[in-house]
Amino acid sequence: MNSPREESATWLAAYHSEQLQRRRRSTYGRKLRRLGLMENAAGLSTLDIACGSGEALTLLADQGARLFGIDLYAPRGPLAEPFHRTVGDGTRLPFRDATFDRVLCMHSLHHFRSFAGIESLLREARRVLKGQGALFLLDHFDSFYLQLIFRTLEASCLDFLPAAKSFGAQLREERDIIFWWLANWRTLFRVLEDTGFQVRSFKKGLFFFYLVCNPVESR
Ligand SMILES: C[S@@+](CC[C@H](N)C(=O)[O-])C[C@H]1O[C@@H](n2cnc3c(N)ncnc32)[C@H](O)[C@@H]1O
Repeated sequence: MNSPREESATWLAAYHSEQLQRRRRSTYGRKLRRLGLMENAAGLSTLDIACGSGEALTLLADQGARLFGIDLYAPRGPLAEPFHRTVGDGTRLPFRDATFDRVLCMHSLHHFRSFAGIESLLREARRVLKGQGALFLLDHFDSFYLQLIFRTLEASCLDFLPAAKSFGAQLREERDIIFWWLANWRTLFRVLEDTGFQVRSFKKGLFFFYLVCNPVESR
């Protein structure tokens, strides 16, 4: 099995910039509500795969869910986090079978860098989910509007806006994987089927899709 590729120092600096952290804190509540993760969460065990700097789990902490995150990186900064973090690889989850009610993966599928990587991630998500659990995916889909905004950000045309400047720097570092993802994202549905999931709901916003899946009963 391949080892995950680490993010570059430039990518990490942009992702952890104050501007992008603030943006995540102000936009993730809406995204999690749209996914349906904010309601009836009390007592539910929830794992965020590739949790990054943890804003999604921090928002979910107010909902009374039991929260776990895993990412290749330890958090930056000294603040205690309101969830249990594991530093590790999302394709080799250090959790027992049928542990979680909900598994989340947002903005991260392309960081697994191939559909073989995404398949490993989904197999692990399926394994650690309870039979009645649900998988929640949020990611980009290809559209004329998204290509336009990405090309504009990548070309530094909006660098007078601090958040856009950081996002542009992040985008330039991951351009191979993000444009690969945009060209191929529909393959995800086949890989979901192959890994034992059925789609419960699929919605598109302007830049992101919101996908909820259930594990298929194994025969
Ligand atoms: C764009 S960030 C998204 C982070 C977070 N989900 C968010 O929405 O802010 C992608 C994350 O994927 C993580 N990542 C990449 N490959 C991974 C792997 N194999 N296992 C766990 N995390 C991984 C990176 O470290 C990074 O934090």
